[in-house]
This record gives sequence, structure tokens and C-alpha cells, in this order.
Amino acid sequence: MEYRIVCIPGDGIGPEIVAEAVKVLQKVGEVFGHSFAFEDILMGGCSLDVHGVPLTDEALAKAQAADAVLLGAVGGNVGTSRWYQVAPNLRPEAALLRIRKEMGLFANIRPASLYPELASACPLKAEAAERGFDLVMMRELTGGVYFGEHSTSEENGERVAKDVMTYSETEIRRIAVKAFEIARKRRGKVTSVDKANVLDTSRLWRKVVEDVAKDYPDVTLEHMLVDNCAMQLVRDPAQFDVILTENMFGDILSDEASMVTGSIGMLPSASLGAGKSGLYEPIHGSAPDIAGKGIANPLATILSAAMLLRYSLDLDAEADAVERAVKEMLAEGFRTADIAAGAVPVGTEEMGRLVRERIRR
Ligand code: IPM
Ligand code: MG
Repeated sequence: MEYRIVCIPGDGIGPEIVAEAVKVLQKVGEVFGHSFAFEDILMGGCSLDVHGVPLTDEALAKAQAADAVLLGAVGGNVGTSRWYQVAPNLRPEAALLRIRKEMGLFANIRPASLYPELASACPLKAEAAERGFDLVMMRELTGGVYFGEHSTSEENGERVAKDVMTYSETEIRRIAVKAFEIARKRRGKVTSVDKANVLDTSRLWRKVVEDVAKDYPDVTLEHMLVDNCAMQLVRDPAQFDVILTENMFGDILSDEASMVTGSIGMLPSASLGAGKSGLYEPIHGSAPDIAGKGIANPLATILSAAMLLRYSLDLDAEADAVERAVKEMLAEGFRTADIAAGAVPVGTEEMGRLVRERIRR
């Protein structure tokens, strides 16, 4: 069978890292006997340059028809890039929000774990780093304040801006179900994070999550306020298995969790909806400062490709093979500049090749 993968190289380092992930998938194809058909679409600043919009309807339609979508990164330097001299709905990031919404990708899965090989990069105290941690952030991705009404107007002689936060029961229930399903396959614990001491959306969130929990007696549920969670993530991240939270809290907490691993260039993500297809991307950005230099770390994108194999194509052995190849290569001491810590770094292409060489049945 032929799998159709749409690639969005995007901006900055995006094209360099996606190229390596594509070669890894091709190698998986050779080793396991699958064929992948890749097609590139433009999204972000590169699409703005060519089409005057960050995502065309044709490009979106191709993404929607694919078995899965692999994304590098979009956007540039907010302070200096011409891509930000446009209306907010034309900015590169607007395309990302649009593709998530139009593909119905309500569940964003961001694993954050400490690789023992990279423990020295972890900014936590030695005891915490030695304990290690392995958590999954389950972030709601198509609701909340990101997608509420936005407005700026004149009221009583001054400018007033509003961003409305809304959550329906349906939106909460479907993401909660995903969190419990994942927890069941892991260590059986869900921490639902909210601001129920202040927000109505959070109080509804709690009720619905408790309701869903009744169907998962084998999974432990705890609630945690978001400010406390931010603190616990740096105090003792080992306490978490699956963190379930709404869109904006998840945006903030997932950056925090990634930093605590000490290796943001390593972390993949998957955005899923009701069907099989999904969008897979590294959690880091387009890093315009190092674009084109051949030094970016392709591992987060390669590991995103592994998630693509696992979640959209149900190719678990193949996903395992990619993840194992990455671990092996790290254990042998190879590092890109961002995680080098004194070692002689290898470049983007070299890192890709080192991973490919280690892929086997
Ligand atoms: C992310 C990013 C996006 C978000 C931005 C670029 C719109 O920060 O994927 O976490 O806030 O969702
Ligand atoms: Mg973010």
C-alpha cells in the first residue's frame, strides 16, 4: 500500500529538518517494504511571498486529503521580518491555526521526557534530573481563547480589546477521552489542569473530565490549578504521567515542560482529530537565526515522523525502529550543536544519515 504524506517544509530551518525526516521515512519504506508518496505544499511566510496568503485553499485541500501531514516550522523574526507587516489573519502563524481548525485537529500530544544520555542538559537540580521524567502533555487545540471572538474597539474614549474564551461540553469530552486512552497505555494517571478557582470554562472542564473518568476506573484522575502545575513542573516533573489541559494553558505549559528536558530540539508533537490523519511537527520554531547553516537539530522532526508512523499509519514496529535508532545514535555520543555540551557537533544532514544507518527490523 502507498501512504500519501503531505510535507510542509515551511520557513527558517523547516526545509532542512523536514528533508532529513523524509529521508528517514524513505529508509523505513525500504527496510519494511512500504511506499510513501510525498508532496510538498507551501505554508507560512514562504506562501505569503508567492501567493499573498500564508495558506491557500488548494494547499489546505491537499493536506486534508493526505494520510498524514509532516510540518517543519512556519514564521520568521516578528521584529524584523516583512511577513509581520500584514493583517493579523495573514501572518504565518494564522496558517497554522487555520490548518489545525480546518483539519479538526483538536488533540495536541506533546511528549516531554528526559533522555538519560542528555541528563546533563536538564536545568533541574541533580536529584530531580537523576529521577528522570516521562510525561505527555495533552493540549486541547481548536477551542478556548485562541478561537473565541477577538476584537479591539473604542469604548468610553479609550481602546478596549477582547478575546473570548469558550468551551463546550463536546469539546472538553473528546479531548478528555484521548487523555484517558493514552494514560491507560502508559502509567495510568491523568492530571487535569485548569483555573477552576476563577474561570467558568474551567469549572465546566472539571465536571466533564470527572464524568469521562467514570469510564476509566483503571486510571487515576487528579485536578491541579495551572499556576501550581507550572511550579510542580520545575519542582518534580516525575509526578506527571498525562497532563490534560485547555489550549492556552497547554501552549504555555508545554514550552515549560520542553525546557525542563533541556533539549527542546528533540521534542516531537502530534495533532490529531477524530479520524486517522494528523499533523506532526517539532515543538520548536523556525529558528531564523540558524536557517541555512546546516546545523539545526533534525531529531524533533524525525521523532515527529515516528509519531506519524505510529498514530496515523498504525506502523508501530516502524515507529519503534526510528525511536530506537535515535537512542542508539545518542548513546554512541553523536550530538548536534544545540545539545553538544562540549562534544564535537555533527550537522543536520550528518545527523539524519546517522539515524538512517541505524534503522533495521
Ligand atoms: C505552538 C505555537 C503556536 C500556538 C503559535 C505559533 C500560534 O506556540 O504550536 O505551541 O500558540 O499554538
Ligand atoms: Mg507554543
